[in-house]
Amino acid sequence: MTPRRLVLLLLPLIAGLLLNPLPTGATGNKNFQFFAPPAEGTLPNGPFGRLIRQGELIFIHTGQYAPRYVGNDLTCESCHLDRGIKPYSAPLWGAYGTYPRYRSKNHQVNTLEERIRGCFRFSLNGTPPPVDGKTMKALIAYSFWVSRGAPVGLYLKGQGMVRMSKPASPPNPLRGKTLFEARCSLCHGLDGQGTQSDNDQVAFPPVWGPRSFNKGAGFHNVRELAGFLKMNMPLSKGKSLSDQQAWDVASYIDSQPRPEDPRKSGH
Ligand code: HEC
Ligand code: HEC
Repeated sequence: MTPRRLVLLLLPLIAGLLLNPLPTGATGNKNFQFFAPPAEGTLPNGPFGRLIRQGELIFIHTGQYAPRYVGNDLTCESCHLDRGIKPYSAPLWGAYGTYPRYRSKNHQVNTLEERIRGCFRFSLNGTPPPVDGKTMKALIAYSFWVSRGAPVGLYLKGQGMVRMSKPASPPNPLRGKTLFEARCSLCHGLDGQGTQSDNDQVAFPPVWGPRSFNKGAGFHNVRELAGFLKMNMPLSKGKSLSDQQAWDVASYIDSQPRPEDPRKSGH
């Protein structure tokens, strides 16, 4: 094969890579579709490693390791799956390099700390930890660690939640209820209150009611919740709901009672 022919053959491939560069992650593995965080358990030694580990524990067992700041039965991992690294469940590596960022929710440029405080206040229906305290320091260290090698200032594939386009027919909570009972209630309970394991630990988190996220949370927005459900629920069977089903079941969940938006009650 002449060199010229080779170039012609490779040209579309090279152009494809240039036009649509895939993040290759810290491993540099080009076959990896999403950013690849450092493998679990590969922590640096010493105080820094211990702080990262502390952040990971807070992330996974939030009520146990940061009880003062949590007001319900959820943990960070309830919504940011697989210890916060699963694509399309707002992974930490997708967030870390994109703050500070303007948010229309509070009309301010938010730091990552401020963004995390928002999840404590609304999604965990709690009291946000101080920006300069130990809890926040540990969560930031953990976020930094799982983002090692990710670019700063770029939105990576798998970042945030999937943004759903409008459904074919308006979201229907009654259809959603039928689907919930068939596909979700096994884990989250017919009454949506989740299920406890024998030792009184939360096995499956509540999706509505007094121990779930409040009305100010991102998931109280039907589109946002539908995007999460589409990619992530039923657990480990992501993408098995049709778009319409994701919208319907999200509208059912968001029509159920839950704690008020703390901005309305002045807390
Ligand atoms: C009830 C679900 C829920 C819980 C619990 C929750 N979050 Fe979130 N979080 C969200 C949603 C929804 C978003 C918005 C995602 C998006 O950008 O579309 C979000 C966004 C974030 C972001 C920014 C993501 C980005 O790409 O900009 C970070 C960081 C974050 N959460 C951290 C946390 C931490 C730390 C905790 C625990 C203290 C937590 N979250 C608990 C639902 C939750
Ligand atoms: C096999 C059990 C299982 C099934 C079935 C299941 N989930 Fe989940 N779901 C979970 C677990 C576990 C989590 C929390 C993830 C974690 O902690 O790792 C979760 C998290 C959630 C969350 C975010 C946290 C919260 O409590 O608000 C929502 C919302 C949710 N599921 C809705 C659904 C819907 C809707 C369905 C049906 C389409 C469904 N789930 C089916 C196990 C399940």
